[in-house]
Amino acid sequence: MLADTFGRVATDLRVSLTDRCNLRCAYCMPEEGLQWLAKPDLLTDEEIVRLVSIAVTDLGITEVRFTGGEPLLRPGLVGIVAQCAALKPRPRMSLTTNGIALRRTAAALAEAGLDRVNISLDTLRPDVFRRLTRRDRHHDVMEGLQAARQAGLTPVKVNAVLMRGLNDDEAPELLTWAIQNGFELRFIEQMPLDAQHGWKREGMITAAEILASLQAHFQLTPEGERERGSAPAERWIVDGGPHRVGVIASVTRPFCSACDRTRLTADGQVRTCLFATEETDLRGALRSGASGEEIAALWKRAMWGKKAGAGLDAPDFEQPDRPMSAIGG
Ligand code: 5AD
Ligand code: SF4
Repeated sequence: MLADTFGRVATDLRVSLTDRCNLRCAYCMPEEGLQWLAKPDLLTDEEIVRLVSIAVTDLGITEVRFTGGEPLLRPGLVGIVAQCAALKPRPRMSLTTNGIALRRTAAALAEAGLDRVNISLDTLRPDVFRRLTRRDRHHDVMEGLQAARQAGLTPVKVNAVLMRGLNDDEAPELLTWAIQNGFELRFIEQMPLDAQHGWKREGMITAAEILASLQAHFQLTPEGERERGSAPAERWIVDGGPHRVGVIASVTRPFCSACDRTRLTADGQVRTCLFATEETDLRGALRSGASGEEIAALWKRAMWGKKAGAGLDAPDFEQPDRPMSAIGG
């Protein structure tokens, strides 16, 4: 098991498949992009499957989430999913994507054994999308969303980040749209994980603001603590049900005490937290011929050192060196 000194056990593995992306969301990357990892530094498809296999068979991982960057940019994705689906016990598998390439790949992914997708969409307005992501791809994302639903990658969850002055007035519209289309909408507070270190607490749209703006149009009833479990989203029942809306208050109401995650970067480093300042190198161990047991032991030791919380409010908080796109959301 991947236990830590605070009594938590990680059962949810986030695997970043690439740090590249075809969007440039303002809360994530600068317009010119970033210095991408070099190919030889990336784990190969075989290495990824080997690590997931160790996590699932020896370390108690039951849930695998593929992320990026943009994971659909990884050519071997369908094959990786198919091989992970053949593991015993079979993990539940989902994908966090910007949705652009889903129109072409959703059916193949479902066929390979992917269970679900989380798609990022912050706005229903193509011009706002272009300003926020610096790419004119709104239409592709909308098509990707429909393709995911048609392929049965459900429930399709939609992640939205609100930015002041850009899309901060769109929460009610997004919720109406999500309900009409059968998507599960979750708002995420903007976190200090942008590569350009431009995040400011005062600039962030808080969960309280998001709720207030929704409550002007909808009646929201809290779903209650029991259902939340280790899920970071706090959920509200909309207008008496059955629809729900989630808010992930990563900054103002962090959920670290219930965290059940472990993360693997595209270059084979274990991270205990998005905000961790240390990493454990599994790629080096893999490439120097370590056994499955040795790798499992390294992973366990890494997780044992997991901190109590992200420490966003600590006076000495420092943003991690890697931005979100190189960690995996
Ligand atoms: N703060 C909050 N959410 C972010 N995401 C990317 N960067 C940030 C950030 N700085 C979101 C993406 C995607 C998910 C992986 O995380 O929009 O939905
Ligand atoms: Fe790409 Fe996601 Fe970063 Fe946007 S938030 S630039 S979609 S990795």
